[in-house]
Amino acid sequence: MTTSTHDRLASLAPALDAAGQSHLVKWCEAIDGESRDRLLDELVSVDLDLLAGLVRGEGLHEEASGDLEPPETVDASDPAALERRTAGEALLREGKVAAFTVAGGQGTRLGWNGPKGTFPATPVTGRPLFRVFAEQILATEQRFGGGPIAWYVMTSPANDAATQSFFRDNNDFGLAAGQIRFIVQGTMPSVDDAGRILLAAKDRVALNPDGHGGSIRALHESGALAEMRSSGVEQISYFQVDNPLVRILDPLFLGFHAADPRSSGEMSGKMVPKRNSGEKVGVFCRRGGRTGVVEYSDLPADLAESIDGDRRLRFRAGNIAVHAISVAFAERLASGERGFGLPFHRAHKKVPHLDLATGSPVDPTAPNAIKFETFVFDAMPLAERALVMETSRGEEFAPIKNAEGEDSPASSREAQSERAAAWLETRGVKVARHPDGRVAATIEIQPRTALCAADLATQALPDRIDPGSEVVI
Ligand code: UTP
Repeated sequence: MTTSTHDRLASLAPALDAAGQSHLVKWCEAIDGESRDRLLDELVSVDLDLLAGLVRGEGLHEEASGDLEPPETVDASDPAALERRTAGEALLREGKVAAFTVAGGQGTRLGWNGPKGTFPATPVTGRPLFRVFAEQILATEQRFGGGPIAWYVMTSPANDAATQSFFRDNNDFGLAAGQIRFIVQGTMPSVDDAGRILLAAKDRVALNPDGHGGSIRALHESGALAEMRSSGVEQISYFQVDNPLVRILDPLFLGFHAADPRSSGEMSGKMVPKRNSGEKVGVFCRRGGRTGVVEYSDLPADLAESIDGDRRLRFRAGNIAVHAISVAFAERLASGERGFGLPFHRAHKKVPHLDLATGSPVDPTAPNAIKFETFVFDAMPLAERALVMETSRGEEFAPIKNAEGEDSPASSREAQSERAAAWLETRGVKVARHPDGRVAATIEIQPRTALCAADLATQALPDRIDPGSEVVI
């Protein structure tokens, strides 16, 4: 061991020992100098105190006690909707809204070889998700004329380079130079059941992105929040990378969020009614005078199944992970005024790693490790009055999560065709349907043509869509 790596290891060893990571001290002593240096570079950036606390159970999300109530919600039929939409349009016209995609996840369930945003998602042209969002941004700019809308894309260290090169290869989908900013989220080490840090290779820690809750910290640390403030951006339109039906800059939602007395203008969320009591989505709930999200696994079965006077699920407000967040609120979270520390959630996952006893790689077939992540919706109860807006699943939610079955590319493509058909039918177009009511053609409406059904009013449309046809409008 050279003196310098020896010194580096000697100075880190007490902290590793104290954090229950002595196995790494031994490992560092056993490997060659160059590998040791690389591993030490990674280990010095791990927050060992935080990790040791999490392993002891400190700083973890706890199901808060207190009675849960369904939240009050607003929707497009609200008497104030017209006024709120106008307020939201004004925000867009005045350039006060930035788009923010969280795209740092690992996408393990989908199993696509690349960042999820590069996945060909649309039913006819196979447009990648990032292009769908870019085209919505361009269409919104054209509509409101507020100048280029800043688009922040959060990546992780594992997919940042591939994401950025995809944007370069596609000439930023026609957006203006400097309009897109990539910010890289933080990571946490994966640990085994005894809390020991796993290694991905002999000189690399097994790191996982720190969850979409890491987005607030990443916005702050990258300077994005400061940049938003100095460029006059007041609201962040937050959405996930996996939902091609998302309406990313929705004037109605932005108006309710920023201009309705039922909202403190800090953080709002969109919901769709759950399909059934067993659907695995978090639900918006009220507790202790605040609105937040309870994960499906934390919602007691009797509450999940309880029915209200209208014979609907009482806790039906499924979270679709679309939020409006004010820059001021994000700054307060990041500066610690209301405690930035979002609680960590533990997830039991399969994490490939090196067996340090034998030095051989292990590709587990069952969950073997714990990942620590924070979730952005845990910030909601920190808002004075968080607003929840109801929308329809068919209009706005068809995520691509799994390779097959529910929430898969196939189910999302079908939902996209169904929405396109429904929009066309509002304009009197005769769309072929199967006897069971499903649309019998594949239809794609491009964001530049229409962002909502009403936009089709000014378009030349076919009279009918024939069975089996593939149509792009
Ligand atoms: P998911 O919970 O679907 O996780 O993320 P995932 O990592 O994409 O997919 P699986 O679970 O491995 O299959 C929801 C959204 O949050 C983003 C994802 O990119 C997606 O848009 N996300 C998730 C992050 O940006 N960072 C994270 O650390 C986790």
